[in-house]
Amino acid sequence: MEVATVLVVVACMAAYVVWFTRLASGLRGPRVWPVVGSLPGLIQHSERMHEWISDNLRGTGGTYQTCICALPGLARRQGLVTVTCDPRNLEHVLKNRFDNYPKGPTWHAVFLDLLGDGIFNSDGDTWLFQRKTAALEFTTRTLRTAMSRWVGHSIHLRLLPILKESSAKSTTVDLQDLLLRLTFDNICGLAFGKDPETLAQGLPENAFATAFDRATEASLRRFIFPEFVWRFKKWLQVGMEATLSRSVAHVDCYLSAIIKARKLELRDGRNYDDLLSRFMKKGTYTDSFLQHVVLNFILAGRDTSSVALCWFFWLVTTHPAVEQRILLELAAVLGESRGSDPSAWLASPLEFEEIDRLVYLKAALSETLRLYPSVPEDSKYVMADDVLPDGTFVHAGSSVTYSIYSAGRMESVWGHDCLEYRPDRWLSPDGKRFEPHDSFKFVAFNAGPRVCLGKDLAYLQMKSIAAALLLRHRLRVAPGHRVEQKMSLTLFMKNGLRMDVQDRDLTAMADELRATQQAPEVVAPAKAVAVTA
Ligand code: HEM
Repeated sequence: MEVATVLVVVACMAAYVVWFTRLASGLRGPRVWPVVGSLPGLIQHSERMHEWISDNLRGTGGTYQTCICALPGLARRQGLVTVTCDPRNLEHVLKNRFDNYPKGPTWHAVFLDLLGDGIFNSDGDTWLFQRKTAALEFTTRTLRTAMSRWVGHSIHLRLLPILKESSAKSTTVDLQDLLLRLTFDNICGLAFGKDPETLAQGLPENAFATAFDRATEASLRRFIFPEFVWRFKKWLQVGMEATLSRSVAHVDCYLSAIIKARKLELRDGRNYDDLLSRFMKKGTYTDSFLQHVVLNFILAGRDTSSVALCWFFWLVTTHPAVEQRILLELAAVLGESRGSDPSAWLASPLEFEEIDRLVYLKAALSETLRLYPSVPEDSKYVMADDVLPDGTFVHAGSSVTYSIYSAGRMESVWGHDCLEYRPDRWLSPDGKRFEPHDSFKFVAFNAGPRVCLGKDLAYLQMKSIAAALLLRHRLRVAPGHRVEQKMSLTLFMKNGLRMDVQDRDLTAMADELRATQQAPEVVAPAKAVAVTA
């Protein structure tokens, strides 16, 4: 090698070292390596990523900046990630400077083939129009009634028979699988008025559900690769990109048949209360637009409530005092509306008024979502340079990740018992009313203009399922089953949730209720224990 070349290489390396040292010294958080940035730490902790992010945030007072690509030109823009769980920053990003923090081009490109420009995958006016149209629907009673009907069907005609059989035969069930199927069926019913019955005896394969799962999985894979790599694979139609195209084609075909049929049915005067039909009645939209409306709602509402319920059942069964209080509340509410005979409590699904009165159950579900939010991390793109309320400077073109998982676990926000499962923190001092926390501290449903549209429906659905199940069965984690988090955009349980199912004796419950009513002070607050999984 010529001396001049050697000198140039050495000079470049020296310049890189100086540049990198300055970059690294300006970043707080996990260690940053030359070229690969903080990726080694991410890979090393990939099995416990959310815990690792929380540890980093605790160590840096709620915000840090890191770099996933330490190369000049990229490091301060695409490569720079600001990670935060500080409620002031969340309010700034999600509400006060909403327009400066869209979902951004990466998210849009990754999901475009599956979701088009639907509500979950758009920004600006495209998003706003759909949000306004859909928000009107979500405020009517029609969707609530529809959700109640779909969830009631799935619970009583399909979930309970499966649990009954498991209890009779002393076999275990994977509760996560059952709940994922149930909520998929529910959201399809709600979105386009047809229950695909993926939850049924024998747990059948369903071509539409499989295609949808594959398409989602293949879209998520795109996050792993630089955009030009997956675009090239798409052009070649190989690997997951080929799977994505096939799956999207299947989903398109299934939904376009439903849309065509529904147009004719509505013309014939038939009445439907699902989202698709309600959008169709509102205006003249293209089939492709309607298809994307449906798909975006399915993606938004399919797994979130089932994974929340999985963590809820695990927490409740490992905190018997909480389980006892949920049951006592159910017995008290049903005792009042249906009398003291427990068989009347099971005779028909719970009415809206009964569900609304289950405040302790709502507190237990919210406490679950605080510790195990269904969407553990979320991210926004930075349009223009900005300074966050805690003083952190964010560059245009970089991204802000807000850790919903960490936001629920900060001592500075939730107090010294922040890691304990304590539903009481959601109740008024007399224990009679549910008291919501500030939406930028409890961000499980997102906050600001893009707050989850399905929040109330999700509570209705989760309360209906939890009540129906706990009234009839005692669930316990099967011996030897390990409850672990899966590292994904949704907080699934990695190994599912294998449970033993036993029948519950409600006579004892009714007796206990009578005793409690005579001496109310025996309802002791559930003892709090820190949780780990
Ligand atoms: C426990 C259950 C649920 C949780 C924890 C949850 C959480 C969330 C979160 C975190 C977001 C923001 C996602 C993002 O923008 O990146 C969101 C958005 C959304 N959710 Fe939910 N969700 C739940 C259930 C549902 C259900 C059942 C539905 C539909 C019936 C639904 C419909 C939506 C929609 C349409 C959006 C997009 C809102 C927008 O971008 O304007 N969600 N949800």
